[in-house]
Amino acid sequence: MPRCVIEVNGLIKRYGDRVAVNGVSFCVQEGEIFGLLGPNGAGKTTTLSILATLLPPDEGQVTIGGYDLVRETNQIKPLIGFVPQELALYPTLSAWDNLAFFGRIYGLRGTALKERIAAVLDLVGLRDRAGDAVRTFSGGMKRRLNIAAGLIHRPRILFLDEPTVGVDPQSRNFIFEHIERLKAEGMTILYTTHYMEEAERLCDRVAIMDEGRLLALGTPKELIGLLGGGVIYMGLAPDRMEALRPSIRALPHVRAVSIQGGRLKIETISARHALLEAIELCAAQDVPILSLEVLEPNLESVFLHLTGKRLRD
Ligand SMILES: Nc1ncnc2c1ncn2[C@@H]1O[C@H](COP(=O)(O)OP(=O)(O)OP(=O)(O)O)[C@@H](O)[C@H]1O
Ligand SMILES: [Mg+2]
Repeated sequence: MPRCVIEVNGLIKRYGDRVAVNGVSFCVQEGEIFGLLGPNGAGKTTTLSILATLLPPDEGQVTIGGYDLVRETNQIKPLIGFVPQELALYPTLSAWDNLAFFGRIYGLRGTALKERIAAVLDLVGLRDRAGDAVRTFSGGMKRRLNIAAGLIHRPRILFLDEPTVGVDPQSRNFIFEHIERLKAEGMTILYTTHYMEEAERLCDRVAIMDEGRLLALGTPKELIGLLGGGVIYMGLAPDRMEALRPSIRALPHVRAVSIQGGRLKIETISARHALLEAIELCAAQDVPILSLEVLEPNLESVFLHLTGKRLRD
């Protein structure tokens, strides 16, 4: 078993009566990219802010690099870099001066500071814009500088909170490439997103989060495997639904059938084959199909399957 660098056990965080994080447990292995995937309000930023030592937990235990989050905060801080969802940059200062500011917070001075600034500017491809005020940057450039700021002190562990929101496809690809390069250098990365295709592409393992709870955890392949061959949602007249259910369940490529949101939810071994079988059955029994939706297996459909909700509302 690879070593866990982050261990979270029974984490709870409340804001007044609202439970933002409700008993979350997971472990991030050294050198992996771990994704927290969930819709707005799932509790991703709250979880990450706690791990980044910016917000105290109400209950639960967290260790990072073997140190206790609450009792040994000072040992943890140098190990971690945090790239917040909201940009944390000074718009009137140049890129260089922004990075110098963050570097000084971590005790970097003189030549060491200059070398680190140059290195992270290179890493995010902004060396030639070092002297320009951040307010003149595009959205994607600001995001990249935000990432550079989180890397200035060479952390072993990087927390990235939705680093691609509001970013054009080219900058997004840039950011993906940086993240993959950091992983190749051995960094451990905890990454939140509500874009399932990002999680599928980047993450070694993904935890699906909704309303403060983790619903599933595994490699993208394992999670997609939960769906088998995909799911078909079929709308039929309400009075025919129950009657047809057993014969649909008996079709060769169907695994399970339930009624969800006024439609038949057909879990399949192969969506393509099951679809043909189900349409044939309805035609033979003269049952009109009122609506039809086929979800190919991907993380988005896994989320819908687990919660009955879409990832993007
Ligand atoms: N400072 C706060 N005070 C009160 N409630 C808060 C605060 N921050 C977050 N919450 C609530 O906690 C819950 C989780 O919020 P959080 O920001 O962690 O979600 P998120 O998964 O990051 O969402 P998003 O995808 O929109 O960034 C939400 O219901 C939110 O309204
Ligand atoms: Mg958030």
